[in-house]
Amino acid sequence: MIKIRDLWKKYGTLQVMAGLNLDVQTGETLVILGPSGIGKSVLLKHIIGITKPDAGTVEIDGVCITSQDGDEIFKTIHNMGMLFQGGALFDSMNVEQNTAFYLTQHKNQETKKAYSKQEIAERVHEALDMVGLPGTEKKMPSELSGGMRKRAALARLIAYRPAIFLYDEPTTGLDPITAMQINELIVKTQKELKATSIVVTHDMFSALYVGDRLSLIRDGKIAHIAEPDAFLKIDDPLIKFLYNTISKDPRSFKENSHG
Ligand SMILES: Nc1ncnc2c1ncn2[C@@H]1O[C@H](COP(=O)(O)OP(=O)(O)OP(=O)(O)O)[C@@H](O)[C@H]1O
Ligand SMILES: [Mg+2]
Repeated sequence: MIKIRDLWKKYGTLQVMAGLNLDVQTGETLVILGPSGIGKSVLLKHIIGITKPDAGTVEIDGVCITSQDGDEIFKTIHNMGMLFQGGALFDSMNVEQNTAFYLTQHKNQETKKAYSKQEIAERVHEALDMVGLPGTEKKMPSELSGGMRKRAALARLIAYRPAIFLYDEPTTGLDPITAMQINELIVKTQKELKATSIVVTHDMFSALYVGDRLSLIRDGKIAHIAEPDAFLKIDDPLIKFLYNTISKDPRSFKENSHG
């Protein structure tokens, strides 16, 4: 479980987090919505320990990462993976090396040993298949399209199989078909790995497709958080606006495709 209490963060005079509280249950997919520049990426960076708050705490499965530093944080977040906004890949590494990156950096948590070359190769192959990029192992990031880079970054996460996935705008800038594949992958990954996922997005279709609960950030706090049906009933102009941006409600056909 992820537990955030009274989180405060200021950049210059800009108060980005202002007493934010949030609980994310183990195994759920929580969606975070909110206008551009409101602090969604900043919140994810606090959760993965890259950014330190001015005040407040972030607890991951009972361990408070806000009071930890360096090596300790690295240990606490070994079971977390983040898909960064823009899907950052290492430019000097090919797709295979990028996808294998976390596996080469961390030990296998079950066996406490380094991953074998064969294990890594298998997982990389499987992950690239899953994101629809088979055969791209030897390509360099510069040879890929924006959407392909994003999918390769997702493959890197899937190959690592963390217990907690943080997705920052996973479908932004993708064509509708690729976006749908990513939505399906998020749901599939969550089911297969019983992972906890936080998905930051502007894409209401994606939010309703993947989310067990939806939330909205405003004024440095979680303004609303609820299951999809209840969330859509909240009397808030931004929620209404976001819902009106989609032409189809994925909940109507999601039941059919996932049983
Ligand atoms: N390292 C930093 N230094 C200074 N200001 C920052 C820093 N990181 C974020 N900010 C500011 O904090 C605010 C929130 O940024 P954040 O990236 O979290 O927005 P966001 O909600 O993710 O927006 P978007 O939807 O456009 O990605 C922005 O005004 C941004 O300029
Ligand atoms: Mg952002």
